[in-house]
Amino acid sequence: MNDYILEMNNITKEFPGVKALSDVSFKVEKGEIHCLIGENGAGKSTLMKVLSGVYPYGTYKGDIVFEGEVQQFNEINDSVRAGIGIIYQELALFPDLTVYENIFAGNEIKKGPFVDWNETVVQATRMLKKVKLNVTPETLIKDLGVGKQQLVEIAKALSKDVKLLILDEPTAALNENDSENLLDLLKELKSQGISCIMISHKLKEVISIADKATVLRDGKTICTLDAQKGEITESIIIKNMVGREIEDIYPKRPDKKIGETVLKLTDWSAYDTQLGRKVAKNINLEVKKGEIVGIAGLMGSGRTELALSIFGNPKNYKLAGELEVHGEKKNFKHTSDAIKAGIAYVTEDRKGDGLFLIQDIKINVSAAHMKGISKKGILNLNEEVKVGTEYKKSLNIKASSLEQVVGKLSGGNQQKVSLGKWLFTGPRILILDEPTRGIDVGAKFEIYTIMNELIKEGLSIIMISSELGEIMGMSDRIYVMAEGAVKGELAIEETTQETIMELATQ
Ligand SMILES: Nc1ncnc2c1ncn2[C@@H]1O[C@H](COP(=O)(O)OP(=O)(O)OP(=O)(O)O)[C@@H](O)[C@H]1O
Ligand SMILES: [Mg+2]
Repeated sequence: MNDYILEMNNITKEFPGVKALSDVSFKVEKGEIHCLIGENGAGKSTLMKVLSGVYPYGTYKGDIVFEGEVQQFNEINDSVRAGIGIIYQELALFPDLTVYENIFAGNEIKKGPFVDWNETVVQATRMLKKVKLNVTPETLIKDLGVGKQQLVEIAKALSKDVKLLILDEPTAALNENDSENLLDLLKELKSQGISCIMISHKLKEVISIADKATVLRDGKTICTLDAQKGEITESIIIKNMVGREIEDIYPKRPDKKIGETVLKLTDWSAYDTQLGRKVAKNINLEVKKGEIVGIAGLMGSGRTELALSIFGNPKNYKLAGELEVHGEKKNFKHTSDAIKAGIAYVTEDRKGDGLFLIQDIKINVSAAHMKGISKKGILNLNEEVKVGTEYKKSLNIKASSLEQVVGKLSGGNQQKVSLGKWLFTGPRILILDEPTRGIDVGAKFEIYTIMNELIKEGLSIIMISSELGEIMGMSDRIYVMAEGAVKGELAIEETTQETIMELATQ
């Protein structure tokens, strides 16, 4: 007798032109943490959307058995009622409402026809305790960091008596500390009998938490690995995910040629008038030709703010100090000035301001450099297709066609489109902000390889990253930031995870 809480049998789901899932079977036992892993576009999110009723019964083939009963979910509420709670990577909270209002939004506690606010606050407090979140229920969501918002989402799911909790890349936007807290919470929920499916690209996490791990590739189930049998190891996972062995995920750069200084900041400060404080403080920093400079630091340390202040200052900070690009003093009034000076910034927030989600791939790739596909001010659509095709191929963007709407691509493939868009502006200095967030190991390797090729062509890269492995694996030199200031500069040879963390927490 098995004790499955969930059995998904022979699931097939097609979109116009794409078979996202083909005959997938996936089983989760009661009380286990089951990780779902696979390359970008493998079908992980789609499988979970089939399960939760986002794609209703009838729009896919195959069946779903939950707690021993065949289910036909017509909408998300049906799966919620059955005890399935799904937390998407893009959090669905209302930023201007309080924690307690969010926890019970759409599931209000009523006394007669009215919402019972007293009871709501009492229950919300109980839920916050369950997820070990130490804030008052009256706190506004927008005043919480992402890590804490994530916990509110889980509290919300728990308030609905969830039996199976699904998390789609829950730690992608969290720092190491918040991630650890979240994983601890999942283990605790497991001890209370709540089963969990977690999608993650972070193999370390999968190894530390999974009882089982199912690998999807190209919409098919490849295998289910079992921790008890010692099958959940990095090499076994990678081999099954990409279908080949990858020796070292940080490709070597044998003939390093580091040249003159291309970007220099002297006593550079940025004051945010809205927040009423300095977000960048007296920064001195240098980037050389052919160099990858890593910027490490915890979430909120001012790395993105620094990047924005250099990239034409779109947030209108009050700037002080000096910015030199290729030996010339610059005073950018607008991001277009920075682009003209050869700087490109690939944002970490590809959904917010990086891409036009309702437009297709080719339009997005050309978006930051329309001149590149125009002649005498007239748009050349053939050229747009040509450029789009080039980047789709060189960045290995997985999509049915160039006309596919970017919002419907998988997370990792959106990141590649974003990179393509900025590469097409022909930058000399490329600022990458969390370039591999949400990206699978195979695609990471591809992005690192592209970075190395760009460096070889004489570009310079500033890489902001919260992943210590990546910072150490790719950078030539590292600046560590905390509280808006550079706390230290490290030569790669002298860098360890500990030295970075020491500086980052100063
Ligand atoms: N609404 C949609 N319309 C068309 N195609 C879609 C849609 N949603 C997903 N796809 C396609 O289905 C495939 C699987 O996508 P899915 O989002 O499930 O991947 P994933 O495994 O979650 O990847 P990632 O790790 O990048 O998030 C991809 O080829 C994607 O482009
Ligand atoms: Mg996904």
